[in-house]
Amino acid sequence: MRSELLTWYHRSRRDLPWRHTSDPYAIWVSEIMLQQTRVAVVIDRYTAFLQSFPTIQSLAEAGEQDVLALWSGLGYYRRARMLHKAAKAIVSDYNGQMPTTAARLRELPGIGSYTAAAIASIAHSEPVAVVDGNVERVLSRIQGWHSHDTVSEAAVRRKVDDFAQALVDPRHPGDYNQAIMELGATVCTPRNPQCLVCPWASECRTLGEHRTPKRAAMKTGEIVYALVLRESSSGTEIVLEQRAATNSVMPGLWELPVLKPAQKPEHEPMLTVRHAIMQVNYTVHVHALDAQDLPEPSLERRWMSAEQASSIALTGLARKILTKAGLIRTSRNAAVIAPSPVLEVL
Ligand code: ADE
Repeated sequence: MRSELLTWYHRSRRDLPWRHTSDPYAIWVSEIMLQQTRVAVVIDRYTAFLQSFPTIQSLAEAGEQDVLALWSGLGYYRRARMLHKAAKAIVSDYNGQMPTTAARLRELPGIGSYTAAAIASIAHSEPVAVVDGNVERVLSRIQGWHSHDTVSEAAVRRKVDDFAQALVDPRHPGDYNQAIMELGATVCTPRNPQCLVCPWASECRTLGEHRTPKRAAMKTGEIVYALVLRESSSGTEIVLEQRAATNSVMPGLWELPVLKPAQKPEHEPMLTVRHAIMQVNYTVHVHALDAQDLPEPSLERRWMSAEQASSIALTGLARKILTKAGLIRTSRNAAVIAPSPVLEVL
């Protein structure tokens, strides 16, 4: 099974930037970014992040707002805070040297068994199995394991962990772990698995007939923002507000002023976008407003040039809105372009 998988991987793997390095720090950054964020989004951010913070030392010395600014668009900002905290811990408590074994890596903030196994196997060839959602699906389909009345999800997970550890290739654990994750991401997908091209089809008891747990239906919600602009000698300026440091969601990040349902203007929104975050599908209305019509700020509120706005720690949604409004470009370092007079309604 190992050689079938590795042969397939060497032929079919995607060329991803973190597959060209053996630097444990770079692999760590990629694995944290890849949790809960699509590969296409990570590719961009990974390179920019490592350009700004090429070493653990540089990350440890950075200010939190700079780290969060480079995380913008990836979501789940707690991951960035924990990465930053762990980099500081490595500098202060580990003499700047990142631990090399999975067991010691797990002592660091934000590094659980998945991340520890990924770093230790890919960067240091430790034969420890990585089990993420993709791996769990691949292995339970092969065996036909699923939870039911008398077998709990935890019991299935324990069997999967043991099977994964027995399968991991002791000679090429890093490639093996990446190969099984790649198989789950590209072939043994949750819906419509591509069994015809699967290197393990002849070993598989279910060939895609396996029940995968249904996802809970997404909730829906509405958010209303105000877009307040003024022209100054240096170009267009935008009012932004900083989320409270005590907020459990995206504390300290910058966004457009939020309007409560009762403050929603009568006029049509200039822009409507959809945004899915944390299992909720939001419809987001953005209303153009004059500065004097803004409600009293409950938070830190500032005028910022478009250029400043594009380089601070914006929420992913604020970045999306300002980009759609033609005020900033998506890429952080790109030049700011003039606002478009007619704004699109999606
Ligand atoms: N998903 C998360 N990390 C991965 C990796 N290193 N290779 C393939 N898929 C992944």
